[in-house]
Amino acid sequence: MEQLIQLIYVSSTENKFNEQQLNDLLTVAREANKKNNITGLLLYKDGDFMQVIEGEKSAIKQLFTNISRDESHTRVTLVLKEDIKQREFADWSMGFKDVSTGEPDGFSDFLSSSTSMKLMPGKAKAVLLSFKYT
Ligand SMILES: Cc1cc2nc3c(=O)[nH]c(=O)nc-3n(C[C@H](O)[C@H](O)[C@H](O)COP(=O)(O)O)c2cc1C
Repeated sequence: MEQLIQLIYVSSTENKFNEQQLNDLLTVAREANKKNNITGLLLYKDGDFMQVIEGEKSAIKQLFTNISRDESHTRVTLVLKEDIKQREFADWSMGFKDVSTGEPDGFSDFLSSSTSMKLMPGKAKAVLLSFKYT
């Protein structure tokens, strides 16, 4: 089997996504990810995304190329890319959490933090992992 890798990025939308747009995105992503054996988690809050994707190197490279070119969001910024021995989000073809409403949480803190903090891979990963069982 090819090397497994994990990739985390953040991005923003010009106009906030509504529920329908988020659902459409997830339907397409989940179907494609199942086919390509890609797992992960997508967080959304008020027009900002953070996503972790994991799978075989070539599949992740291709998906991140597509995601980077996707005009439905901008400022796609790579936060982390590393080889992994096993998946951390194995249960999800693409888990999803909209944290636009509700209590402040790790993701909100992360988004409101300084730009340099947003590029801290350990911090980004901790935020994503904190949503794994919520
Ligand atoms: C925030 C965001 C997350 C996305 N996540 C995925 C994903 O996990 N899997 C996927 O196949 N497409 C995902 N997409 C869609 C891709 O950007 C792209 O539209 C899709 O891979 C199809 O690309 P193609 O039309 O060039 O084949 C995502 C798009 C956005 C805006």
